[in-house]
Amino acid sequence: MNKSSRLPGFYKLGLEDRAAIIAERAGLTASEKAILMGEGLSPAQADQMIENVVGIHALPLGIAVNFLINGQDYLIPMAIEEPSVVAGASFAARLVREGGGFAASSDEPVMIGQIQVLDVADPQAARSELLAQKSRLLQLADQTDSLLVSLGGGARDLIVRVIKDSIVGPMVVVHLLFDCRDAMGANTVNTACEALAPEVENITGGRVVLRILSNLADRRLARARCSIPPDVLAFEAFDGQTVSKRIVEAYALAANDPYRAATHNKGIMNGIDAVAVATGQDWRALEAGAHAYAARSGRYTSLSHWSVDADGNLVGTLELPLAVGIVGGASRVHPTAKVALKILGVTTARELAEVMAAVGLAQNLAALRALATEGIQRGHMELHARQVAIAAGATGDLEVGSWRLEVGG
Ligand code: MEV
Repeated sequence: MNKSSRLPGFYKLGLEDRAAIIAERAGLTASEKAILMGEGLSPAQADQMIENVVGIHALPLGIAVNFLINGQDYLIPMAIEEPSVVAGASFAARLVREGGGFAASSDEPVMIGQIQVLDVADPQAARSELLAQKSRLLQLADQTDSLLVSLGGGARDLIVRVIKDSIVGPMVVVHLLFDCRDAMGANTVNTACEALAPEVENITGGRVVLRILSNLADRRLARARCSIPPDVLAFEAFDGQTVSKRIVEAYALAANDPYRAATHNKGIMNGIDAVAVATGQDWRALEAGAHAYAARSGRYTSLSHWSVDADGNLVGTLELPLAVGIVGGASRVHPTAKVALKILGVTTARELAEVMAAVGLAQNLAALRALATEGIQRGHMELHARQVAIAAGATGDLEVGSWRLEVGG
């Protein structure tokens, strides 16, 4: 059953009550609930994950409410140290909900692996020969992950590029396109590229250097769209048209200026990274892909787009590469990531990418709305004051101001 993610007053509850509601909603077992309450990654588990482990570094895990995406409600786990992000996402999701929610879509989960070939006598001839042997090379790539092939994934295409000049001379770059289904796919793609390399050398007569995936996963894009009627955006002294107009004006700077675009996109990634960390994704890969995609025209620009349509609705869209997985990696090892995925309830990597795109767009909307109207410092400073008070030893229920009060209402 698709239960509503509208949880009015959720933010006013104590931590344990909030956790109890989420546990009940997500059908968490007692031990899964205990993971939320601090019995997460053990030192012994951590010791298996990376090198030279000396401890555990924890982050707050919050739940963004109000999300309606493709007609389905989601409670969104977000792991992040920054105040206002969870509140901002929840608040924006409530506005978007009133316009019908987010529409999200995604490409097939196809990753790109690169094989770099140097010392090729005739790069164009080598390119033709590689393409002539494409189906054999794809078959060879498929043999490296028969499980994934049996699940419907596998090698999809081979693209060959020639870089005519570089400081080390011309080079041929082979792109292996590999459908990774519900995995992020780094290991699969790297293994396939390494397996193809000797054949690529035989065919081209060249010397392979790199065999590695590209984080510019532009075959694996996710998109989100929202449309918000102007009256939904009105607040205090600001009417809805003014808020929409100012959001578009704010966006226009990001669209035209890399200095603003960097900050604008950082706000989008506040949301995406927080879900990525909560669910055990490689957030550095997502960051690399997002910013490379934002610069794909040769000029770094906004990842989102905002306009007002003929009916006066504020329309926002976001598109970016989102190479995420729900099998393999930390998403299946880290106990809290497993619980976070259960709370989110996604069943495919594509669904996770679509949710993350919607969260990124919500985060962008929350930031632009605040920046273009009352400014963000009001909400930020009240939350900051709370952190300072906690650092100084304060406990109990501390007031945190208007931004936060808007969250669950
Ligand atoms: C702060 O973490 C994020 C913002 O700077 C984003 C933006 O300016 O759009 C508020």
